[in-house]
Amino acid sequence: MSGKFITLEGIDGSGKTTQGFFLKNKLEEFGKDVLFTREPGGVKGAEEIRNLLVQGEKDRWSNITEILLFFASRRHHLEKVLLPAINKGKVVICDRFTDSTIIYQGRENIHLKKMIIELNKSVIGIVPDLTLIIDIDPTKSLNRGLSRKSDEMRFERFGLEFQATARNGYISLAKTDKRYQLIDGNNSKDKVHQMIWNKVSKFLSLKL
Ligand SMILES: Nc1ncnc2c1ncn2[C@@H]1O[C@H](COP(=O)(O)OP(=O)(O)OP(=O)(O)O)[C@@H](O)[C@H]1O
Ligand SMILES: [Mg+2]
Repeated sequence: MSGKFITLEGIDGSGKTTQGFFLKNKLEEFGKDVLFTREPGGVKGAEEIRNLLVQGEKDRWSNITEILLFFASRRHHLEKVLLPAINKGKVVICDRFTDSTIIYQGRENIHLKKMIIELNKSVIGIVPDLTLIIDIDPTKSLNRGLSRKSDEMRFERFGLEFQATARNGYISLAKTDKRYQLIDGNNSKDKVHQMIWNKVSKFLSLKL
């Protein structure tokens, strides 16, 4: 039996984690067996790699080292969590996946972007069935992010321009494949949830 693989994407503070929990709860009301997990991380070894990525100074890794750390974490998560759950028929929701690496680590340099796409093909090999991209004004999301107390601030330290570039990257990416659905994240949590549910319920053919 094969499950479904749904990913949540969007810039920092766009509401991915909030909406992931809402979506999980709603799907469970419909009797679905749901796993909500996140990247980088989602399982012990991958969470250890996450800490290397999200904490500390922004220039602590070279571009390529950073990409390899993301893929080491992703591969471990894939083997230990994602594939077993999908193979059991679960609906797997993952907070960030390879699209994040394309947007962030591949943002300025076409060679790095190509490297990410090639690595993804060779060491990951699965493509989400549906990707919800939460689009938001970066000023808004950055304020949300900074109002949180967290030791995971490394990427927030890249600042507004970095988030704005990422946002534009996501908008362009959304046009490249039917699996992408752009969601307006500038609305209330409930409204955003409604928009996401509208897409997901149709995708899974669930009656509202
Ligand atoms: N639609 C919304 N309106 C107002 N506040 C929101 C909304 N969605 C989320 N928030 C709040 O904004 C903050 C960031 O939300 P959340 O953690 O879900 O974003 P995220 O995309 O997962 O961020 P990150 O990329 O940093 O993990 C949280 O404090 C959350 O409660
Ligand atoms: Mg989050």
